[in-house]
Amino acid sequence: MKKVVLAYSGGLDTSVAVAWLREKYDCEVVCLTVDVGGGSLREGVEKRAISAGASRAYVVDARERFVRDFVWPHLQANALYQGAYPLATALARPLIAQLLVEVARREGADAVAHGCTGKGNDQVRFDVAVHALDPGLEVVAPMRVGMGLTRDQEIDYAAERGIEIPITKASPYSIDVNLWGRSCETGVLEDPWVTPPPDAYEWTVAPSSAPEPVELVIEFEGGLPVAIDGERLDPVELVDRLHDLGGAHGVGRIDHVEDRLVGIKSREIYETPAATILHEAHRGLESLTLTKDTLRFNRTVANELAQLTYDGLWFSALHRDLRGYVASSQRVVSGEVRVRLDHGSAVLVGRRSPLSLYDKNLATYDTGDAFDHAAAVGFIGIFGLPLRVEAARHGAVGARYGAAWSWTDPLLSELPTTVTDPEPVAAG
Ligand code: ARG
Repeated sequence: MKKVVLAYSGGLDTSVAVAWLREKYDCEVVCLTVDVGGGSLREGVEKRAISAGASRAYVVDARERFVRDFVWPHLQANALYQGAYPLATALARPLIAQLLVEVARREGADAVAHGCTGKGNDQVRFDVAVHALDPGLEVVAPMRVGMGLTRDQEIDYAAERGIEIPITKASPYSIDVNLWGRSCETGVLEDPWVTPPPDAYEWTVAPSSAPEPVELVIEFEGGLPVAIDGERLDPVELVDRLHDLGGAHGVGRIDHVEDRLVGIKSREIYETPAATILHEAHRGLESLTLTKDTLRFNRTVANELAQLTYDGLWFSALHRDLRGYVASSQRVVSGEVRVRLDHGSAVLVGRRSPLSLYDKNLATYDTGDAFDHAAAVGFIGIFGLPLRVEAARHGAVGARYGAAWSWTDPLLSELPTTVTDPEPVAAG
């Protein structure tokens, strides 16, 4: 290994990793820092990389690309891992991996490196993505191959080598941030019974101390949010705006015990104010504009896509093809939704669309009803036909063939029942 490109956050671990890689492999280290928003870009990161011994430091502002190509397709798909996690960390990994490979090529490097541990999902995501894009590159994870230092040892290691280290107080948690979410784990959170302490949260106020509820109107075009309260915003601005608003109202706290790809259950606290609001809003608009069959099928696609993304399989053909389907299914998801931010929840309170499939004349119970009630009789006769046949053929014989149930199990006689007859009228 002669030259390695390291995914560099500017934190203590990766700063130490720069020196550790140089010493262990006697190689040149190029640092790559990717700004994916949410405070992921530490100030002076390039200076720190050089001070740690990097021969060159790249800093890439990928926020816009991150939202457009990674976050948006998953919002359109309603993709949540295990129905809960908006995949913030998982979504940034393939983007960073892609940039690692590109910088490696530009620099003529023969390896890339990342600061992931050997028991998380992120190592898998990086390794798998890099090798899909360039099987010739070696992937090194210092934490996995011997750089197992405690925080104090890392501080000493850096001091001995004159490496500038970030002056932050030791966080009791392991944290990852980008503009779509904040992931926080370890420490006291490792006991899934423990209530997350207030310091586990940084982006959201406690719902109980949120201010008076507010309502906002979010406009979508083709399944993508484009404006808030009539003001058109570019994707990063829009996410940032909802991040601030949602956070101020305590929206987007998720306490999730999830299943990692490496077979471990782990407890993670997520803060995803913008993602929580936008997922709620998007689903609300889809309920108005998509047919029930599309909605049902999309739930399957959402689960598959979330799983593939979580598992680091972004650069697979299936992932690409599912994204293609999702994009196509969003043609008609245009319109507006009204969302109320109320003490920790984002509640959909209204939706409208020029492409709405909702027909008040069909739905109404008032005058103007256009639905053919009489036709319902014939419809039900045919719709219920298979069930009537089954009940007739199998229902009666179920008990004889050992079924544990029967349609003739008594119900009425087992429930407290009163029966009232009219008073007999006395004969006059
Ligand atoms: N469990 C999340 C995932 O696998 C987040 C991982 C990073 N979390 C962290 N706190 N460092 O996508």
